[in-house]
Amino acid sequence: MIYIKTKKEIDYISESCKIVAETLQLLKRYVRIGITTKELDQIAEDYILSNGGLAAFKGYSQGGSSIDYPAAICASIDEQVVHGIPGNRVLKDGEIISLDVGVLKNGYFGDAALTVAVGNISEEKKRLMDVTEKSLYLGIEQAVANNKVHDISAAVQTYVEANGFSVVRDLCGHGVGKFLHEEPSVPNYGKKGTGPKLKSGMTIAIEPMVNLGKYSVKTNYDGWTVVTVDGLPSAHFEHTILISNGEPEILTVC
Ligand code: MF3
Ligand code: CO
Repeated sequence: MIYIKTKKEIDYISESCKIVAETLQLLKRYVRIGITTKELDQIAEDYILSNGGLAAFKGYSQGGSSIDYPAAICASIDEQVVHGIPGNRVLKDGEIISLDVGVLKNGYFGDAALTVAVGNISEEKKRLMDVTEKSLYLGIEQAVANNKVHDISAAVQTYVEANGFSVVRDLCGHGVGKFLHEEPSVPNYGKKGTGPKLKSGMTIAIEPMVNLGKYSVKTNYDGWTVVTVDGLPSAHFEHTILISNGEPEILTVC
């Protein structure tokens, strides 16, 4: 079932989302050649805790045999699509890193992600990042009451593919609020005019994951890190959105 949030719930979700956005802005300032993803993770967790929140991904279970997620953030470099586990890897010139942050506060979740450049990146990677971010905003434009979920999906897919890139099929955006992952699923591909109807008071995370090459992905030996099968880079941008009768409201802003 898709939850319609009350005013009070929306206030709590917005509060968590604001901390998510602030954490991402903070991390962006720290991304540079020579820093490790573990250091970024620590900076993020300290910030979240000092604002009365919890890092929502830590301890998250995806079921099956993989370990519970062991870090505060996801840090996914180049061919890593999402769910990269922070560690001792040192950022190098020319890499792109996707940072994904979730916060739980007052019992409500916020979720967002962005991709940033480390030093000087290739034109191709720059275009990949720009197209992915633009596709998120085109998806957000469709996130209004009385539209269908796949209006968002189609907007993302059409733009990405027109630019020669591919959208990941195996992972999707999602409802968010009372739980990190709620209904509806928000795919980044699909047919306009289909899927559940959007209603005022729904809160959803839209998160295009865009590959420079083919869309196929697989999960690494660590049970979490999703990588492209062809080894080519991938970018990821995400916002938590409130559906209303007017303009979509981006909650993960600060
Ligand atoms: N934004 C991602 C998602 O919605 C992050 C989840 S990481 C996890 O799936 F560890 F919580 F799974
Ligand atoms: Co998400």
